[in-house]
Amino acid sequence: MADRTDLDVAERWNQNADQWTRDVRGGIDVYRDLFTFPAFQDFLPSLDQLDVIDFGCGEGSNTRRFAQIGARMTGIDLSERLIEHARDAEIVDPVGIDYRVTSYSEPSGFSDASFDAVVSTMALMDGPDINGAMREAYRLLRPGGFVVFSVLHPCFITPGSRWDKDAGGRKTGLYVSRYFDVSSFTERWIFSDQPDDMDVQLFAVPRFPRTISDYLNAVADAGLRVTQVEEPRPTPEACKTVPRFSRWRDHAAFLLLIKAEKHE
Ligand SMILES: C[S@@+](CC[C@H](N)C(=O)[O-])C[C@H]1O[C@@H](n2cnc3c(N)ncnc32)[C@H](O)[C@@H]1O
Repeated sequence: MADRTDLDVAERWNQNADQWTRDVRGGIDVYRDLFTFPAFQDFLPSLDQLDVIDFGCGEGSNTRRFAQIGARMTGIDLSERLIEHARDAEIVDPVGIDYRVTSYSEPSGFSDASFDAVVSTMALMDGPDINGAMREAYRLLRPGGFVVFSVLHPCFITPGSRWDKDAGGRKTGLYVSRYFDVSSFTERWIFSDQPDDMDVQLFAVPRFPRTISDYLNAVADAGLRVTQVEEPRPTPEACKTVPRFSRWRDHAAFLLLIKAEKHE
């Protein structure tokens, strides 16, 4: 377990919530729209008619996409403000999602074996307790159920990684360091495609670096069986639209996808 707690995470994400929601819904999160969500969807088994819970659902854009492909969705997040935004979208255009403010790494208030699937997009690296999250996933799943999650690739996006560039500023490779440094820290950043006239604050996102074995062992220790792992690259078409994606096609993996099952 890390030194920062769920309470710190909730506080930061409450501060990020309004701008995050505006940016994501305003279409400037091009990584999500052109790379990470399509890759996640390709990796995902059918969710049609399944009871599915989204761990760290944020303002709910992805949760809504899962509902639109046929899942009966529940979304949970630590941030009250993000959940307010998610519920507002549900009021404007209902797709039947139940949102709750609760942690994915503590007993979340739902009964044992009440879901067919647990999904999580880009949220498990943002909470302090991956082992607790996998134990809770196991508890919530019915026998034969599955968990699918995406995280920033822990081997390449490390506390000390940085791009090497040639004289013209072209990225020529990734320099990785401090892979084993699992101290939590707060990363400050904004989406790069902000409209010029917007008043933007940097997001403050608590990060919990861990090694790839930390992820895989958390899954295994919870009693789940890993069935598929992928490190998808952005498509050539996506790289054409957003040329800066090419670094994640040519040099290093941005995304790690893991699928695991609870035995029958
Ligand atoms: C980068 S956002 C991703 C949100 C959403 N999945 C998406 O793809 O838009 C990470 C989210 O994880 C949530 N989070 C972090 N730790 C959590 C925990 N222990 N329980 C529930 N949510 C958590 C944060 O509040 C934040 O909304």
